Amino acid sequence: MKSLENTVEQPVSVHKYSLKHDDVVTAYRRYGRLYNLIFGASMEPGRKKALNAMNCQPNESILEVGVGTGLALPNYPQHVHITAIDLSPDMLRMAKKVVEKHELRNVDLQQMDAQKMLFDDNSYDKAAIMYVATVVPDAKAMMSELRRVCKPDADIYVLNHFASRNAVIRTCEKLLLPLSKWLGFDAHFDMDRFVADSGMELLSITPVIGFGYWKMLHLRNRPPSQSGGK
Ligand SMILES: C[S@@+](CC[C@H](N)C(=O)[O-])C[C@H]1O[C@@H](n2cnc3c(N)ncnc32)[C@H](O)[C@@H]1O
Repeated sequence: MKSLENTVEQPVSVHKYSLKHDDVVTAYRRYGRLYNLIFGASMEPGRKKALNAMNCQPNESILEVGVGTGLALPNYPQHVHITAIDLSPDMLRMAKKVVEKHELRNVDLQQMDAQKMLFDDNSYDKAAIMYVATVVPDAKAMMSELRRVCKPDADIYVLNHFASRNAVIRTCEKLLLPLSKWLGFDAHFDMDRFVADSGMELLSITPVIGFGYWKMLHLRNRPPSQSGGK
């Protein structure tokens, strides 16, 4: 593993309301215990779907990026090793309580920036990024790091809301953009651009919550084929 120095850098801005690392840490400190109330049960169908789709096999090394309060951790099988990272010390503190309460000996929690991970190349068999892509200041940098730390052909599962194709909803999303820093997420996030920026092959798109506003993307850690693979 590389050194722990200088892990948190400022991002490359995507638009004028883009989040910075301090905004993320402040927003998730503000959510505190309310996080599980607001985003616990309401977002659980997506987490369950992602874990089912992962179909974890014995001794696989799994990376969970932006683990938050650790809501998904008890649902992984005991026979895999999970490394779970988050930028927010407040969220990690709650995740640690989950690990202790459920006596999860297969979970390693680390405070780390997803845009600059300290792991060696080709370390993970699978990765889950649940409700994080619109929260990280620079999703492209995060995906570039995932390409590096995951093994070739690793399966990557991304749960997120993406900009609607409906003109009315798109307008509402754009109206929310000035609140991005306060909310701690980007309300208007383009899926096609995210997939293209990931540099990975898109295998499937599954609608999960909110009539498909939240989706699960199954990506594979290899360059996209010419024909695409949706
Ligand atoms: C909406 S929460 C999702 C938490 C969890 N995955 C869930 O399903 O509830 C987003 C999380 O991403 C974390 N995050 C944001 N930017 C990050 C970064 N650059 N590196 C690591 N974690 C980050 C936040 O601190 C927060 O805990």
